[in-house]
Amino acid sequence: MNAQIGSMVSAYKPLLSEADDQRLSQMMEMIERNRFLPAPAPQSVFVGDGDYRAIGAEYLGHFVRLGGLRRSDRVLDIGCGIGRMAVPLTQYLDGEAGSYEGIDPVREGIEWCVQNITTVYPRFRFCQVDLAHELYNPGGSLGGHEVVLPFSDASFDFAAMVSVATHLPISEISAYAREIRRLLAPGGRLFMTTFLVMGEDLERPNARPKFTPGTEDGTWYGDPSAPLAAIGFNRNLVENAVREAGLHAERVSLGHWRGIESTHYQDVIIATVPEKLG
Ligand SMILES: C[S@@+](CC[C@H](N)C(=O)[O-])C[C@H]1O[C@@H](n2cnc3c(N)ncnc32)[C@H](O)[C@@H]1O
Repeated sequence: MNAQIGSMVSAYKPLLSEADDQRLSQMMEMIERNRFLPAPAPQSVFVGDGDYRAIGAEYLGHFVRLGGLRRSDRVLDIGCGIGRMAVPLTQYLDGEAGSYEGIDPVREGIEWCVQNITTVYPRFRFCQVDLAHELYNPGGSLGGHEVVLPFSDASFDFAAMVSVATHLPISEISAYAREIRRLLAPGGRLFMTTFLVMGEDLERPNARPKFTPGTEDGTWYGDPSAPLAAIGFNRNLVENAVREAGLHAERVSLGHWRGIESTHYQDVIIATVPEKLG
């Protein structure tokens, strides 16, 4: 492994004790095996390939281990799709203190979540926001450059964007970073996955996707014929977007898309709101 990447991957102290980590692994295994938890019919899953339950359980682990998710957190899931992240959170979040709001432009995903998750777990709510996206919601009535979500200031502790910024232009990621800064309470955390493209990533033979330069500086496309199918950015573009919004980029964990060893595929950025505003 490249020395610079190696130091970035291992530079952080674990957030969980060994015993808590083991309990979390057990919970993840139980979630993955539990056939009574809601799961959509395979043909209605529009959020990517792979095992719906296994990927959800995997991300619960990343939320806790990398993002410091607590049971009492009020969670906002931006681009919640068809509930892949929400289902495992029903088993983790505290039934009284914790809560969950998911938003997505795709109406069918939100309808499935309301019918199959909210009816059983009323503290899990879902809302369709008609944001335009050339692949997911081409007829959307709202632009993503000045996104305003229907929630009040400082009403969340944890915001997740899993495999969403990998489908948005940098201007929309910046708009989301500003909106998330408004919505997170002091001490709140953003967990966002991205493709951070750095020099050597383009040379590794086993990197997937194989990025080629996009039309804007610092932007990379996995497939130039569908730029928003998989879009990556120079690391400083994403970190600047986060910083300019007033968030602190606290941790970056690199993913195995670039052909290195990692517990997750996309890169993960954890950004925080200062505890005390000064
Ligand atoms: C690859 S899917 C990931 C879904 C979910 N986060 C998961 O991991 O299961 C990308 C999601 O982003 C949503 N999306 C597209 N444009 C968006 C936007 N401007 N704001 C929020 N979500 C958006 C899509 O509708 C889709 O559900």
